[in-house]
Amino acid sequence: MTGAPIGSVTVTMDGTDKSASLPLLAGTIGPSVFDIRKLYTDLDLFTYDPGYGGTAACESRITYIDGDEGVLLHRGYPIDQLAEQSTFLEVAHLLLNGELPDKEELAEFERGVMLHTMVHEQLRQFYNGFRRDAHPMAVICGVVGALSAFYHDSLDVTNADHRRISAFRLIAKLPTIAAWAYKYSIGQPFMYPRNDLGYAENFLYMMNAVPAEPYHVNPVLARAMDRILILHADHEQNASTSTVRLAGSTGANPFACIAAGIASLWGPAHGGANEAVLKMLAEIGHKDHIPDFIARVKDKNSGVRLMGFGHRVYKNYDPRAKIMERTCHEVLDELGIKDDPLLELALELERIALHDDYFISKKLYPNVDFYSGIILKAMGIPTSMFTVLFAVARTVGWISQWKEMMEDPLQRIGRPRQVYTGHAQRDFVVLQAR
Ligand code: ACO
Repeated sequence: MTGAPIGSVTVTMDGTDKSASLPLLAGTIGPSVFDIRKLYTDLDLFTYDPGYGGTAACESRITYIDGDEGVLLHRGYPIDQLAEQSTFLEVAHLLLNGELPDKEELAEFERGVMLHTMVHEQLRQFYNGFRRDAHPMAVICGVVGALSAFYHDSLDVTNADHRRISAFRLIAKLPTIAAWAYKYSIGQPFMYPRNDLGYAENFLYMMNAVPAEPYHVNPVLARAMDRILILHADHEQNASTSTVRLAGSTGANPFACIAAGIASLWGPAHGGANEAVLKMLAEIGHKDHIPDFIARVKDKNSGVRLMGFGHRVYKNYDPRAKIMERTCHEVLDELGIKDDPLLELALELERIALHDDYFISKKLYPNVDFYSGIILKAMGIPTSMFTVLFAVARTVGWISQWKEMMEDPLQRIGRPRQVYTGHAQRDFVVLQAR
Protein backbone atom coordinates (compact mmCIF):
# COMPACT_ATOMS: atom_id res chain seq x y z
CA MET A 1 0.00 0.00 0.00
CA THR A 2 1.31 3.45 -0.88
CA GLY A 3 1.08 6.22 1.72
CA ALA A 4 -0.78 5.99 5.02
CA PRO A 5 -4.52 5.13 4.79
CA ILE A 6 -6.57 7.98 6.28
CA GLY A 7 -10.06 7.29 4.97
CA SER A 8 -11.83 6.81 1.70
CA VAL A 9 -13.44 8.69 -1.16
CA THR A 10 -16.71 7.42 -2.56
CA VAL A 11 -17.29 7.78 -6.28
CA THR A 12 -20.90 7.45 -7.35
CA MET A 13 -21.98 7.24 -10.99
CA ASP A 14 -24.87 9.63 -11.57
CA GLY A 15 -28.08 7.96 -12.67
CA THR A 16 -26.99 4.46 -11.59
CA ASP A 17 -26.72 2.64 -8.29
CA LYS A 18 -23.04 1.97 -8.92
CA SER A 19 -20.43 3.39 -6.56
CA ALA A 20 -16.91 2.58 -5.41
CA SER A 21 -15.13 3.35 -2.18
CA LEU A 22 -11.55 4.31 -2.91
CA PRO A 23 -8.84 4.41 -0.23
CA LEU A 24 -7.62 7.89 0.71
CA LEU A 25 -3.87 7.92 1.37
CA ALA A 26 -1.67 10.57 2.98
CA GLY A 27 1.96 11.32 2.12
CA THR A 28 4.31 12.89 4.68
CA ILE A 29 3.43 16.38 3.43
CA GLY A 30 1.47 17.66 0.47
CA PRO A 31 -1.94 16.75 -0.89
CA SER A 32 -3.41 13.33 -0.14
CA VAL A 33 -4.29 11.01 -2.98
CA PHE A 34 -7.10 8.60 -3.56
CA ASP A 35 -6.17 5.24 -4.92
CA ILE A 36 -8.06 4.64 -8.15
CA ARG A 37 -6.60 1.24 -8.94
CA LYS A 38 -9.97 -0.49 -8.39
CA LEU A 39 -12.00 2.10 -10.27
CA TYR A 40 -11.85 0.16 -13.53
CA THR A 41 -12.67 -3.22 -12.02
CA ASP A 42 -15.44 -1.83 -9.78
CA LEU A 43 -17.02 0.79 -12.05
CA ASP A 44 -15.60 0.08 -15.51
CA LEU A 45 -14.20 3.63 -15.50
CA PHE A 46 -10.85 5.21 -16.27
CA THR A 47 -9.70 8.61 -15.08
CA TYR A 48 -8.92 11.26 -17.70
CA ASP A 49 -5.99 13.57 -16.98
CA PRO A 50 -4.04 14.69 -20.06
CA GLY A 51 -0.68 16.05 -18.97
CA TYR A 52 -1.10 14.22 -15.63
CA GLY A 53 -1.68 17.50 -13.73
CA GLY A 54 -3.77 15.75 -11.09
CA THR A 55 -2.22 12.30 -11.08
CA ALA A 56 0.36 10.79 -8.73
CA ALA A 57 2.02 8.11 -10.85
CA CYS A 58 4.22 6.68 -8.11
CA GLU A 59 5.22 6.89 -4.48
CA SER A 60 8.57 8.61 -3.97
CA ARG A 61 10.73 9.68 -1.02
CA ILE A 62 13.21 11.72 -2.98
CA THR A 63 11.90 15.21 -3.79
CA TYR A 64 8.99 17.30 -2.54
CA ILE A 65 7.64 20.44 -4.22
CA ASP A 66 5.04 22.83 -2.86
CA GLY A 67 4.29 24.85 -5.96
CA ASP A 68 2.09 27.44 -4.23
CA GLU A 69 4.68 28.23 -1.57
CA GLY A 70 7.72 27.91 -3.85
CA VAL A 71 9.27 25.12 -1.77
CA LEU A 72 11.65 22.46 -3.08
CA LEU A 73 13.03 19.80 -0.72
CA HIS A 74 15.42 16.95 -1.49
CA ARG A 75 15.01 14.18 1.08
CA GLY A 76 13.58 16.92 3.31
CA TYR A 77 16.42 19.43 2.90
CA PRO A 78 15.52 22.84 1.34
CA ILE A 79 17.19 23.51 -2.00
CA ASP A 80 18.63 26.87 -0.87
CA GLN A 81 20.47 25.20 2.04
CA LEU A 82 21.82 22.50 -0.24
CA ALA A 83 22.87 25.02 -2.90
CA GLU A 84 24.63 27.24 -0.36
CA GLN A 85 26.22 24.63 1.88
CA SER A 86 26.79 21.37 0.04
CA THR A 87 28.43 20.10 -3.12
CA PHE A 88 26.89 18.41 -6.13
CA LEU A 89 28.31 15.00 -5.20
CA GLU A 90 26.99 15.36 -1.64
CA VAL A 91 23.56 16.06 -3.15
CA ALA A 92 24.03 13.11 -5.50
CA HIS A 93 24.69 10.87 -2.49
CA LEU A 94 21.65 12.30 -0.76
CA LEU A 95 19.34 11.72 -3.72
CA LEU A 96 20.67 8.28 -4.50
CA ASN A 97 21.06 6.88 -0.98
CA GLY A 98 18.58 8.88 1.08
CA GLU A 99 20.94 10.58 3.55
CA LEU A 100 23.71 13.16 3.57
CA PRO A 101 27.04 11.35 3.73
CA ASP A 102 29.48 11.74 6.66
CA LYS A 103 33.11 12.60 5.82
CA GLU A 104 34.22 9.02 5.11
CA GLU A 105 31.07 8.17 3.19
CA LEU A 106 31.49 11.26 1.04
CA ALA A 107 35.15 10.49 0.32
CA GLU A 108 34.22 6.93 -0.64
CA PHE A 109 31.31 8.13 -2.80
CA GLU A 110 33.44 10.75 -4.56
CA ARG A 111 36.13 8.16 -5.23
CA GLY A 112 33.50 5.67 -6.42
CA VAL A 113 32.10 8.17 -8.92
CA MET A 114 35.39 9.67 -10.09
CA LEU A 115 36.89 6.21 -10.76
CA HIS A 116 34.41 5.87 -13.61
CA THR A 117 34.96 9.17 -15.42
CA MET A 118 36.71 7.67 -18.44
CA VAL A 119 34.60 6.14 -21.20
CA HIS A 120 35.46 3.03 -23.19
CA GLU A 121 38.02 4.14 -25.79
CA GLN A 122 35.95 2.60 -28.57
CA LEU A 123 33.17 5.03 -27.73
CA ARG A 124 35.34 7.89 -29.09
CA GLN A 125 34.63 6.53 -32.57
CA PHE A 126 30.95 7.32 -32.17
CA TYR A 127 31.60 11.05 -32.30
CA ASN A 128 33.10 10.77 -35.79
CA GLY A 129 29.76 9.47 -37.04
CA PHE A 130 28.11 12.81 -36.28
CA ARG A 131 28.23 15.96 -38.38
CA ARG A 132 30.34 18.64 -36.72
CA ASP A 133 27.31 20.93 -36.61
CA ALA A 134 25.11 18.34 -34.88
CA HIS A 135 23.31 19.65 -31.82
CA PRO A 136 25.22 18.33 -28.78
CA MET A 137 21.91 17.03 -27.34
CA ALA A 138 21.63 14.78 -30.41
CA VAL A 139 25.19 13.60 -29.80
CA ILE A 140 24.83 12.87 -26.09
CA CYS A 141 21.47 11.18 -26.63
CA GLY A 142 23.16 8.77 -29.04
CA VAL A 143 26.36 8.24 -27.08
CA VAL A 144 24.61 7.70 -23.73
CA GLY A 145 22.26 5.18 -25.37
CA ALA A 146 25.33 3.43 -26.75
CA LEU A 147 26.79 2.96 -23.24
CA SER A 148 24.61 -0.12 -22.86
CA ALA A 149 26.61 -1.70 -25.69
CA PHE A 150 29.82 -1.26 -23.67
CA TYR A 151 29.05 -2.05 -20.06
CA HIS A 152 27.50 -5.50 -20.26
CA ASP A 153 28.76 -6.27 -16.77
CA SER A 154 26.25 -3.90 -15.14
CA LEU A 155 23.04 -4.42 -17.12
CA ASP A 156 21.16 -6.78 -14.82
CA VAL A 157 18.54 -4.41 -13.43
CA THR A 158 17.52 -6.93 -10.76
CA ASN A 159 21.03 -6.94 -9.27
CA ALA A 160 21.66 -4.22 -6.66
CA ASP A 161 25.42 -4.14 -7.39
CA HIS A 162 24.77 -3.68 -11.09
CA ARG A 163 22.33 -0.87 -10.32
CA ARG A 164 24.91 0.84 -8.09
CA ILE A 165 27.74 0.57 -10.64
CA SER A 166 25.49 1.77 -13.46
CA ALA A 167 24.52 4.78 -11.36
CA PHE A 168 28.20 5.59 -10.71
CA ARG A 169 29.04 5.11 -14.37
CA LEU A 170 26.28 7.41 -15.57
CA ILE A 171 27.00 10.17 -13.04
CA ALA A 172 30.74 9.93 -13.77
CA LYS A 173 30.66 9.64 -17.56
CA LEU A 174 28.03 12.24 -18.43
CA PRO A 175 30.45 15.19 -18.01
CA THR A 176 33.03 13.42 -20.19
CA ILE A 177 30.47 12.59 -22.88
CA ALA A 178 29.04 16.13 -22.75
CA ALA A 179 32.43 17.88 -22.85
CA TRP A 180 33.51 15.72 -25.79
CA ALA A 181 30.32 16.60 -27.68
CA TYR A 182 31.37 20.24 -27.31
CA LYS A 183 35.01 19.60 -28.26
CA TYR A 184 33.86 17.69 -31.32
CA SER A 185 31.65 20.58 -32.42
CA ILE A 186 34.56 23.04 -32.30
CA GLY A 187 37.17 20.68 -33.73
CA GLN A 188 39.39 20.55 -30.64
CA PRO A 189 40.99 17.40 -29.22
CA PHE A 190 39.07 15.56 -26.53
CA MET A 191 40.47 16.13 -23.05
CA TYR A 192 40.56 13.08 -20.80
CA PRO A 193 39.04 13.52 -17.34
CA ARG A 194 41.23 14.42 -14.36
CA ASN A 195 40.20 12.65 -11.21
CA ASP A 196 42.31 14.93 -8.99
CA LEU A 197 39.76 17.68 -9.72
CA GLY A 198 36.30 18.09 -8.24
CA TYR A 199 33.26 17.07 -10.29
CA ALA A 200 32.37 20.55 -11.60
CA GLU A 201 36.04 21.53 -11.92
CA ASN A 202 36.77 18.45 -14.01
CA PHE A 203 33.82 19.25 -16.25
CA LEU A 204 35.02 22.83 -16.83
CA TYR A 205 38.52 21.47 -17.43
CA MET A 206 37.34 18.99 -20.08
CA MET A 207 35.24 21.71 -21.75
CA ASN A 208 37.86 24.46 -21.77
CA ALA A 209 41.37 23.01 -21.58
CA VAL A 210 43.50 22.19 -24.62
CA PRO A 211 46.61 19.96 -24.63
CA ALA A 212 48.83 22.83 -25.81
CA GLU A 213 48.31 25.12 -22.81
CA PRO A 214 48.12 24.78 -19.04
CA TYR A 215 44.59 25.46 -17.84
CA HIS A 216 43.62 26.65 -14.39
CA VAL A 217 39.98 26.27 -13.39
CA ASN A 218 38.67 29.45 -11.76
CA PRO A 219 37.37 28.36 -8.31
CA VAL A 220 34.50 30.89 -8.34
CA LEU A 221 33.30 29.56 -11.68
CA ALA A 222 33.75 25.96 -10.51
CA ARG A 223 31.63 26.75 -7.45
CA ALA A 224 28.99 28.43 -9.65
CA MET A 225 28.94 25.41 -11.96
CA ASP A 226 28.62 23.08 -8.97
CA ARG A 227 25.68 25.16 -7.72
CA ILE A 228 24.00 25.12 -11.14
CA LEU A 229 24.34 21.33 -11.12
CA ILE A 230 22.79 21.15 -7.64
CA LEU A 231 19.86 23.34 -8.71
CA HIS A 232 19.11 21.03 -11.65
CA ALA A 233 19.78 17.71 -9.92
CA ASP A 234 16.20 16.56 -9.42
CA HIS A 235 12.68 17.88 -9.66
CA GLU A 236 10.15 15.24 -8.74
CA GLN A 237 8.09 13.60 -11.53
CA ASN A 238 8.76 16.08 -14.35
CA ALA A 239 8.49 15.04 -18.02
CA SER A 240 12.01 13.64 -18.41
CA THR A 241 11.99 11.85 -15.05
CA SER A 242 8.61 10.32 -15.86
CA THR A 243 10.09 9.26 -19.21
CA VAL A 244 12.98 7.55 -17.42
CA ARG A 245 10.56 5.82 -15.05
CA LEU A 246 8.28 4.71 -17.88
CA ALA A 247 11.20 3.34 -19.91
CA GLY A 248 12.63 1.69 -16.79
CA SER A 249 9.29 0.13 -15.86
CA THR A 250 9.72 -2.26 -18.80
CA GLY A 251 12.99 -3.55 -17.37
CA ALA A 252 15.08 -1.60 -19.91
CA ASN A 253 18.68 -1.04 -18.84
CA PRO A 254 19.56 2.26 -17.10
CA PHE A 255 21.73 3.59 -19.95
CA ALA A 256 18.81 3.24 -22.37
CA CYS A 257 16.47 4.84 -19.81
CA ILE A 258 18.74 7.85 -19.29
CA ALA A 259 19.04 8.27 -23.09
CA ALA A 260 15.22 8.41 -23.15
CA GLY A 261 15.30 11.03 -20.39
CA ILE A 262 17.75 13.13 -22.40
CA ALA A 263 15.42 13.02 -25.42
CA SER A 264 12.52 14.15 -23.27
CA LEU A 265 14.54 16.93 -21.66
CA TRP A 266 15.49 18.42 -25.02
CA GLY A 267 12.15 20.12 -25.74
CA PRO A 268 11.82 23.91 -25.26
CA ALA A 269 8.95 23.44 -22.80
CA HIS A 270 11.38 21.56 -20.51
CA GLY A 271 15.20 21.60 -20.49
CA GLY A 272 15.49 23.47 -23.76
CA ALA A 273 14.05 26.58 -22.12
CA ASN A 274 17.42 27.99 -20.94
CA GLU A 275 18.61 28.04 -24.55
CA ALA A 276 15.27 29.54 -25.60
CA VAL A 277 15.59 32.34 -23.01
CA LEU A 278 18.82 33.58 -24.57
CA LYS A 279 17.36 33.41 -28.05
CA MET A 280 14.37 35.38 -26.79
CA LEU A 281 16.57 38.05 -25.15
CA ALA A 282 18.60 38.35 -28.36
CA GLU A 283 15.39 38.71 -30.34
CA ILE A 284 14.07 41.45 -28.02
CA GLY A 285 17.44 43.13 -28.34
CA HIS A 286 16.73 46.31 -26.34
CA LYS A 287 14.73 47.40 -23.30
CA ASP A 288 12.63 49.67 -25.49
CA HIS A 289 11.28 46.63 -27.34
CA ILE A 290 10.02 44.90 -24.17
CA PRO A 291 6.46 46.35 -24.26
CA ASP A 292 6.01 45.16 -27.85
CA PHE A 293 7.31 41.75 -26.95
CA ILE A 294 5.06 41.49 -23.88
CA ALA A 295 2.08 42.45 -26.07
CA ARG A 296 2.94 39.58 -28.43
CA VAL A 297 3.23 37.17 -25.50
CA LYS A 298 -0.24 38.22 -24.33
CA ASP A 299 -1.72 37.74 -27.78
CA LYS A 300 -3.03 34.16 -27.80
CA ASN A 301 -2.70 33.92 -31.58
CA SER A 302 0.98 34.83 -31.70
CA GLY A 303 2.18 31.54 -30.19
CA VAL A 304 4.92 33.53 -28.39
CA ARG A 305 5.70 32.69 -24.75
CA LEU A 306 7.87 34.44 -22.25
CA MET A 307 10.56 31.78 -21.99
CA GLY A 308 11.92 31.13 -18.51
CA PHE A 309 8.53 32.06 -17.05
CA GLY A 310 5.80 29.77 -15.83
CA HIS A 311 5.87 26.26 -14.47
CA ARG A 312 3.45 23.39 -14.27
CA VAL A 313 3.92 23.08 -10.51
CA TYR A 314 5.26 26.41 -9.23
CA LYS A 315 2.56 29.03 -8.96
CA ASN A 316 5.01 31.19 -7.07
CA TYR A 317 8.68 32.14 -7.52
CA ASP A 318 10.68 29.04 -8.44
CA PRO A 319 13.05 28.80 -5.41
CA ARG A 320 15.86 27.80 -7.75
CA ALA A 321 15.44 31.01 -9.76
CA LYS A 322 16.29 33.14 -6.70
CA ILE A 323 19.56 31.26 -6.10
CA MET A 324 20.29 31.40 -9.81
CA GLU A 325 19.88 35.18 -9.79
CA ARG A 326 22.38 35.51 -6.89
CA THR A 327 24.82 33.18 -8.63
CA CYS A 328 24.45 35.22 -11.79
CA HIS A 329 25.61 38.38 -10.01
CA GLU A 330 28.55 36.49 -8.39
CA VAL A 331 29.72 35.16 -11.74
CA LEU A 332 29.43 38.50 -13.52
CA ASP A 333 31.35 40.20 -10.66
CA GLU A 334 34.08 37.57 -10.77
CA LEU A 335 34.44 37.98 -14.51
CA GLY A 336 34.42 41.76 -14.21
CA ILE A 337 31.37 42.02 -16.44
CA LYS A 338 29.71 45.28 -15.53
CA ASP A 339 26.38 46.31 -16.96
CA ASP A 340 25.85 43.12 -18.91
CA PRO A 341 23.21 44.11 -21.48
CA LEU A 342 21.57 40.67 -21.42
CA LEU A 343 21.26 40.71 -17.63
CA GLU A 344 19.88 44.24 -17.69
CA LEU A 345 17.37 43.23 -20.32
CA ALA A 346 16.40 40.13 -18.33
CA LEU A 347 15.99 42.13 -15.11
CA GLU A 348 13.82 44.70 -16.82
CA LEU A 349 11.74 42.02 -18.53
CA GLU A 350 11.27 40.28 -15.19
CA ARG A 351 10.31 43.55 -13.48
CA ILE A 352 7.72 44.40 -16.11
CA ALA A 353 6.27 40.88 -16.23
CA LEU A 354 5.99 40.63 -12.44
CA HIS A 355 3.88 43.81 -12.43
CA ASP A 356 1.68 42.86 -15.36
CA ASP A 357 -1.85 41.61 -14.72
CA TYR A 358 -1.55 38.88 -17.36
CA PHE A 359 1.36 37.22 -15.56
CA ILE A 360 0.03 37.95 -12.06
CA SER A 361 -3.40 36.46 -12.77
CA LYS A 362 -1.89 33.33 -14.34
CA LYS A 363 0.67 33.04 -11.52
CA LEU A 364 3.57 33.08 -13.94
CA TYR A 365 6.91 33.63 -12.21
CA PRO A 366 10.53 33.20 -13.35
CA ASN A 367 11.65 29.58 -13.35
CA VAL A 368 15.16 28.15 -12.96
CA ASP A 369 15.95 28.72 -16.62
CA PHE A 370 15.37 32.45 -16.63
CA TYR A 371 18.86 33.21 -15.28
CA SER A 372 20.86 30.07 -15.94
CA GLY A 373 21.47 30.95 -19.59
CA ILE A 374 22.91 34.34 -18.69
CA ILE A 375 25.35 32.77 -16.21
CA LEU A 376 26.40 30.05 -18.60
CA LYS A 377 26.90 32.50 -21.44
CA ALA A 378 29.07 34.69 -19.21
CA MET A 379 31.12 31.60 -18.35
CA GLY A 380 31.82 31.14 -22.04
CA ILE A 381 29.57 28.12 -22.47
CA PRO A 382 27.88 28.10 -25.87
CA THR A 383 24.10 28.23 -25.99
CA SER A 384 23.78 24.80 -27.58
CA MET A 385 25.44 23.28 -24.49
CA PHE A 386 22.94 24.71 -21.97
CA THR A 387 20.49 21.83 -22.12
CA VAL A 388 23.40 19.39 -22.15
CA LEU A 389 24.52 20.80 -18.82
CA PHE A 390 21.03 20.35 -17.50
CA ALA A 391 21.19 16.71 -18.61
CA VAL A 392 24.52 16.21 -16.81
CA ALA A 393 22.96 17.45 -13.58
CA ARG A 394 19.60 15.73 -13.98
CA THR A 395 21.26 12.36 -14.59
CA VAL A 396 21.63 12.17 -10.82
CA GLY A 397 17.90 12.69 -10.30
CA TRP A 398 16.96 10.34 -13.13
CA ILE A 399 19.13 7.51 -11.87
CA SER A 400 17.98 8.03 -8.26
CA GLN A 401 14.33 7.89 -9.34
CA TRP A 402 15.02 4.87 -11.54
CA LYS A 403 16.77 3.07 -8.65
CA GLU A 404 13.91 3.90 -6.29
CA MET A 405 11.41 2.54 -8.79
CA MET A 406 13.38 -0.65 -9.39
CA GLU A 407 13.49 -1.24 -5.61
CA ASP A 408 9.76 -0.59 -5.15
CA PRO A 409 7.90 -3.90 -4.64
CA LEU A 410 4.79 -2.33 -6.24
CA GLN A 411 6.67 -1.48 -9.43
CA ARG A 412 5.06 -2.73 -12.60
CA ILE A 413 5.12 -1.71 -16.23
CA GLY A 414 3.71 1.79 -16.82
CA ARG A 415 0.75 1.51 -19.15
CA PRO A 416 -1.72 4.42 -19.29
CA ARG A 417 -5.14 3.97 -20.93
CA GLN A 418 -7.13 6.40 -23.09
CA VAL A 419 -10.56 7.69 -24.02
CA TYR A 420 -10.98 6.29 -27.51
CA THR A 421 -12.74 8.80 -29.78
CA GLY A 422 -11.96 7.24 -33.16
CA HIS A 423 -14.24 5.14 -35.36
CA ALA A 424 -16.14 2.27 -33.85
CA GLN A 425 -15.55 -1.07 -35.57
CA ARG A 426 -16.24 -1.00 -39.33
CA ASP A 427 -15.62 -3.35 -42.23
CA PHE A 428 -12.61 -3.13 -44.50
CA VAL A 429 -13.34 -1.71 -47.97
CA VAL A 430 -11.22 -3.04 -50.84
CA LEU A 431 -9.13 -0.45 -52.70
CA GLN A 432 -11.23 -0.58 -55.88
CA ALA A 433 -14.38 0.20 -53.92
CA ARG A 434 -13.02 3.26 -51.99
N1 ACO B 1 4.35 33.00 -21.34
C1 ACO B 1 3.08 33.40 -21.57
N2 ACO B 1 1.98 32.74 -21.16
C2 ACO B 1 2.18 31.61 -20.48
C3 ACO B 1 3.47 31.12 -20.20
C4 ACO B 1 4.58 31.86 -20.65
N3 ACO B 1 5.82 31.47 -20.42
N4 ACO B 1 3.36 29.97 -19.51
C5 ACO B 1 2.05 29.74 -19.39
N5 ACO B 1 1.35 30.73 -19.97
C6 ACO B 1 -0.13 30.86 -19.98
C7 ACO B 1 -0.76 29.98 -21.03
O1 ACO B 1 -0.95 30.65 -22.26
C8 ACO B 1 -2.07 29.62 -20.38
O2 ACO B 1 -2.97 30.68 -20.54
P1 ACO B 1 -4.58 30.39 -20.65
O3 ACO B 1 -4.97 29.80 -19.33
O4 ACO B 1 -5.14 31.72 -20.92
O5 ACO B 1 -4.75 29.42 -21.79
C9 ACO B 1 -1.73 29.55 -18.89
O6 ACO B 1 -0.59 30.42 -18.72
C10 ACO B 1 -1.37 28.15 -18.42
O7 ACO B 1 -0.38 27.64 -19.28
P2 ACO B 1 -0.18 26.12 -19.61
O8 ACO B 1 0.59 25.99 -20.88
O9 ACO B 1 -1.50 25.41 -19.52
O10 ACO B 1 0.69 25.67 -18.38
P3 ACO B 1 1.50 24.37 -18.27
O11 ACO B 1 1.58 24.05 -16.85
O12 ACO B 1 0.98 23.33 -19.20
O13 ACO B 1 2.93 24.81 -18.86
C11 ACO B 1 5.18 25.46 -19.02
C12 ACO B 1 4.06 24.99 -18.09
C13 ACO B 1 5.33 24.50 -20.21
C14 ACO B 1 6.48 25.48 -18.26
C15 ACO B 1 4.81 26.88 -19.53
O14 ACO B 1 4.70 27.76 -18.46
C16 ACO B 1 5.83 27.41 -20.55
O15 ACO B 1 5.71 27.09 -21.74
N6 ACO B 1 6.82 28.22 -20.08
C17 ACO B 1 7.85 28.71 -20.97
C18 ACO B 1 8.89 27.64 -21.18
C19 ACO B 1 9.76 27.44 -19.97
O16 ACO B 1 10.27 28.38 -19.38
N7 ACO B 1 9.95 26.17 -19.61
C20 ACO B 1 10.84 25.78 -18.50
C21 ACO B 1 10.05 25.08 -17.45
S1 ACO B 1 11.08 24.77 -16.07
C22 ACO B 1 11.99 23.45 -16.49
O17 ACO B 1 11.67 22.59 -17.25
C23 ACO B 1 13.30 23.39 -15.86
